[in-house]
Amino acid sequence: MARQGAFRYGRDGSLQQTHEMSERASFGYRSVPLSHKQALVDAVFHAVARRYDLMNDVMSGGLHRLWKDALVAALNPPRQGRPWRLIDVAGGTGDIAFRVAERSQGHADIVVADINESMLAIGCERAEQRGLGRMEFREANAEALPFHDGSFDAYTIGFGIRNVPRIEAALAEALRVLKHGGRFLCLEFSQVDVPMLDRLYEAYSFRAIPALGRVVAGDAESYRYLVESIRTFPNQERFAEKIRQAGFARVSYRNFSGGIAALHSGWKL
Ligand SMILES: C[S@@+](CC[C@H](N)C(=O)[O-])C[C@H]1O[C@@H](n2cnc3c(N)ncnc32)[C@H](O)[C@@H]1O
Repeated sequence: MARQGAFRYGRDGSLQQTHEMSERASFGYRSVPLSHKQALVDAVFHAVARRYDLMNDVMSGGLHRLWKDALVAALNPPRQGRPWRLIDVAGGTGDIAFRVAERSQGHADIVVADINESMLAIGCERAEQRGLGRMEFREANAEALPFHDGSFDAYTIGFGIRNVPRIEAALAEALRVLKHGGRFLCLEFSQVDVPMLDRLYEAYSFRAIPALGRVVAGDAESYRYLVESIRTFPNQERFAEKIRQAGFARVSYRNFSGGIAALHSGWKL
């Protein structure tokens, strides 16, 4: 996020600032006013919602399933004992929530929170098909979650945080809604750290993904944004530092598939 102003020449010939400093955010490779970013992101996910799950499989060759399985294995939700509550933020069509429900054998009490009703509508349909009627789908902004402090045992966010305009606000909210001893897990695309793979991945991302988006989802632009937003997101170390700065303890991460994705972990202690 950067600050930028508008300027004009004054009567005395000096350069003067005309507007208040406005905060900027990246929307893919475009710099946009921070206050515009969410609406642009929402338009992308309204457009892709129907084809979102299919496109995930096509784009990643199914790898996203393994990464999500690894997140849920790391979370290791309990199958019995005292009530255990998870919030899956930017949970979209429910992929992570369904895996947690299955692994916990129905013990986990799960809220799927997402700002986009089109994504949530697909998630609700899928939950009903799976007989997971108890799962709560809630329209909510990661930057201002409508839950009391200390409401959850765990907070997950998968491929969501790079879309949130104010990442620091989302991390602060994650810390706030977690109980003491609660776990934060974030799965996100990251920086490839394997020579050659980085070049192949670059070519695949910028050539193949928008083309696949056009063919499968009839929408190349939305997928171009998704690729660009990956490149503008902080790398593993920088994002880990943000998580530490938000107040999480024992922050760590591990790479998947040479860094194409990374799983960040932190604890509220
Ligand atoms: C790439 S999808 C990820 C969906 C799901 N977690 C998965 O892994 O398949 C990103 C999601 O982030 C949501 N999102 C974007 N900005 C958000 C915000 N400020 N608060 C909550 N959700 C947001 C979008 O609506 C979208 O459903």
